[in-house]
Amino acid sequence: MKKVILVAGARPNFMKIAPILRAMKNHPDLRAILVHTGQHYDDNMSEAFFAGLGIKKPDYQLSIGSGTHAVQTANIMIGFEEVCRIEMPDMVLVVGDVNSTIAAGLVAKKLHIKLAHVEAGLRSRDRQMPEEINRLATDAITDIFFTTEVGGTQNLLAEGHSEDSIHFVGHVMIDNLFYQLGKMGDEDAASPSVRSLKESLLEKYLCMTLHRPSNVDDKKILTELIKTINTIASEVPIIFPCHPRTLRRLHDFGLDDLFIMKESVLPEASKGIIITEPLNYDDFLYLWKDCTIMLTDSGGLQEETTALGVSCLTLRDNTERPITVEVGTNILIGHDMDKLRLEIKKALNGEKKNGRIPDLWDGNASERIVHHICRYLKENSN
Ligand code: UD1
Repeated sequence: MKKVILVAGARPNFMKIAPILRAMKNHPDLRAILVHTGQHYDDNMSEAFFAGLGIKKPDYQLSIGSGTHAVQTANIMIGFEEVCRIEMPDMVLVVGDVNSTIAAGLVAKKLHIKLAHVEAGLRSRDRQMPEEINRLATDAITDIFFTTEVGGTQNLLAEGHSEDSIHFVGHVMIDNLFYQLGKMGDEDAASPSVRSLKESLLEKYLCMTLHRPSNVDDKKILTELIKTINTIASEVPIIFPCHPRTLRRLHDFGLDDLFIMKESVLPEASKGIIITEPLNYDDFLYLWKDCTIMLTDSGGLQEETTALGVSCLTLRDNTERPITVEVGTNILIGHDMDKLRLEIKKALNGEKKNGRIPDLWDGNASERIVHHICRYLKENSN
């Protein structure tokens, strides 16, 4: 029996780890150990996600919390090294591009443990993004790569990695999306307040998420964005589950008053920005799957909207997930507010960008990953 430690730390990690854990459960050759670094710790950024995704409680909770990049990364490394010394795993598996990804990866390799990276090879070419540094550094030390799109494989090959270490498997995020959608048939999928919010909306509504430092840490950029969004919200309601980082910035920059409508008046939500706490996965999916347009700077939502054919306008200049633009429903807006207004007008008028589901985004990526890991560990045992 081979031992694999799976690492999750920030909100998007939990959705990616869940289907891999399911695929490893009861596997005759693998034992999965789950480590939660605690990078995200608020209940609605962490616990609610674990519960809603139906995954086991972490075997280790490192409770690292927030800090500067150096403090957070270093603390995760110190905590995770201890876990690795106790467990002596055959492999560490990391997902995505958050600080927990690179921190755990570094620890694994310094202890000569095999490292698997799920969602490898993505590149935005924007080194101002902390995630781009995490992606580059993690892939530089990874032993076995799992890519979500052909572009990821090409990037890794161009960086000199061998073809047989790279496996194009599809996307675990989409495995999770289809799994959660399958469960959504019954009426109780969403919480009562979210169900009544949706009932109160007119046929057309937008959803929005915003948390990237490039959008929310600069007063001028955030002010312009919120002003534009506010104008749009005078015509069509916009549901905005607000990330804690963004909420703090809105307050710091004195932008709280710009909102037309707050959570306290949810039932009359015929228009306005409806700001809520971060929602759990099921609640937000229940809302956004039927929205007219998603406005986002998230990586995962660019992909999930493409998978469900929902229009997505991305509030970033670049994307490390080009397949969503090339074949999917995603359009890059950057900070061009005229383009934002124009694309929203078009989508509201029914001029939607049509897309198709990218290759291998079929709900079976996790099974493929587990198959490759088993083979790899058989062939490359220490
Ligand atoms: C992190 C990831 C980002 C991912 C995002 C998803 C990195 C570098 N960034 O960004 O790629 O898209 O998670 O949400 O890893 N905070 C809370 N409660 C929490 C967590 C954070 O209040 O549970 C606040 C704290 O003020 C903290 C700030 O949010 O300082 C930023 O948190 P952090 O984990 O550093 O980065 P995110 O912006 O969440």
